[in-house]
Amino acid sequence: MKSVAIINFKGGVGKTTVSYHLAAFLARDHRVLLIDVDHQSSLSIVVLGSLLWDKCVKEQKTVNRVFESFCNRRIPMPDDEIIIKNVIGERNKNDQGYYPNLDFVSAQFELDDTEIDLASTNYGNASLSDWEKRTLLASWLDKVKAHEKYDYVIFDCPPATKIVSQNALAASRSYVIPVIPDDISSRGVTHFRNLVQNKIDGKLVPGIKVE
Ligand SMILES: Nc1ncnc2c1ncn2[C@@H]1O[C@H](COP(=O)(O)OP(=O)(O)OP(=O)(O)O)[C@@H](O)[C@H]1O
Ligand SMILES: [Mg+2]
Repeated sequence: MKSVAIINFKGGVGKTTVSYHLAAFLARDHRVLLIDVDHQSSLSIVVLGSLLWDKCVKEQKTVNRVFESFCNRRIPMPDDEIIIKNVIGERNKNDQGYYPNLDFVSAQFELDDTEIDLASTNYGNASLSDWEKRTLLASWLDKVKAHEKYDYVIFDCPPATKIVSQNALAASRSYVIPVIPDDISSRGVTHFRNLVQNKIDGKLVPGIKVE
């Protein structure tokens, strides 16, 4: 299984557009799980349509549950009930653009509140707690045996590098930073790469000292 985070701390650079098209392209020949981890939920609303997205939010079948399980110990880590199977194929069976291998996990606005709770929640040993809250998505992927079920997992990240984004990075083998090719946007890439290497990878890989 290859996992990719589509990420940039800058907004409006095409992260969601790249996530959606990359996932749909790959789903023609591979089993793909596309996960919206942006509380803005624009990908979820486009992929599911507003009625189905509303239903997912009402039934709490969103990625928010994965993060809530850390902040509120009465909420268990979800299983695969938050995965909407065959998300585009179901709705467009007779269309040319039929993608039977594309599964989806939705976001919801409240993920923004959960992010704030995550920052202020800790249990016991500080390092272990830090580790646990940054590997929630990775743990969930293990729990649902994503490595057996999917060839690709793609995360559409918010324009931020906080704990939810760090979770997507920790669960990914690689990341793609979409940029608008102008001076200011491209300067941000170097900053982002340093941030990932020093502040995120450096914290997540125990024993590796980042120079
Ligand atoms: N290659 C492109 N050429 C022109 N416009 C594009 C391209 N890719 C995306 N857009 C447009 O740019 C806008 C922002 O794209 P998108 O929502 O994918 O960015 P984003 O980085 O996900 O934004 P946010 O940070 O708010 O999540 C959208 O209106 C989208 O249609
Ligand atoms: Mg987006």
